[in-house]
Amino acid sequence: MTEMSTIRDVAKLAQVSVATVSRVLNGNGYVSHNTREKVAAAIKQLNYRPNDVARSLFKGRSKMIALFVPDIMNPFFPELARAVEDMTTQQGFTFVLCNTDDNLNKEMAYLEALKQKSVDGIIIVSSTMTAEYMENFDIPAVALDRIIHTNISSVTVNNREGAKEATQYLKDIGCRRIAHVSGPEHVSNARQRLKGYLDIAQKSEWFNYEYIEQGEYNFEGAKKATQILLTKHPEIDGLFVANDLMAVGAIKAAESLGLSVPDQLSIISFDGIKLGETTSPALTTMAQPIYQIGARAAEMLIKQVEQNEAQTLVEEFSVKLIERDSTRKKGENQ
Ligand code: RIB
Repeated sequence: MTEMSTIRDVAKLAQVSVATVSRVLNGNGYVSHNTREKVAAAIKQLNYRPNDVARSLFKGRSKMIALFVPDIMNPFFPELARAVEDMTTQQGFTFVLCNTDDNLNKEMAYLEALKQKSVDGIIIVSSTMTAEYMENFDIPAVALDRIIHTNISSVTVNNREGAKEATQYLKDIGCRRIAHVSGPEHVSNARQRLKGYLDIAQKSEWFNYEYIEQGEYNFEGAKKATQILLTKHPEIDGLFVANDLMAVGAIKAAESLGLSVPDQLSIISFDGIKLGETTSPALTTMAQPIYQIGARAAEMLIKQVEQNEAQTLVEEFSVKLIERDSTRKKGENQ
């Protein structure tokens, strides 16, 4: 077996520096035509194959992009990850997924480890990360789904508008007492969704702060919150729940109290994950363009990485009402 040639062998044979060979390989920086030819001839003669490790050593780059998500158990995030993976791998990057549990220590540990591996950039869904920490790590980044700071590019949706539309929809189909099971207070988009609910609810004569119960962004929390709401206020006939996974918990809570959805209680939620089509009843929801926002964040990051794009971009996509069976039809008696 012949020994594999190294970049040093190429440099030696071409009588140039290792850095010059690296410039030729990566197509960056000035190299004269003559030198380029000499390097190309040496590469051919030695049958040299640059590997990714060598490439990352010389470029300070790994062709690797990571996605941080707070909760891989929520089907919203695998759907988002699919889009980021498709886009990054199409462009020749290795995709790495990190589940952070919305825990700053875990996020910092991942950032440290990825920095050691010369990660090219990260797409981050976080409610705990700050701009200061990000600056310390100095890794190109795009915030997805949740804004971190105005200095960091972001891709999100119009949470407040979507929540307003959801609440208005419940009114329009004839609900007379509409409650909200909110997401966690420390998550900006949960606060926006609460604000959207309040925009409509506070203008209604029936409004009562007791119609708001925090349910976290998960099944169990929402189930518990819905049971509390419906037990205290059996008059509630419409529920806006802050995400689809929570809506499944809310349906279970209604069932446990012997209430039928949508005949006695209409439920609308937020996200538009695939799971919502398969639940019984199927979920009426404000759908985010999940694939599109994931792909756009990846596209933005790749541009930052490849073209040293320094401009901060802030993009907000619209959500769209999908009417299914967890809400009654307009004109039907409740
Ligand atoms: O379902 C997960 C939730 O967390 C989504 O609604 C998303 O927008 C997020 O922040």
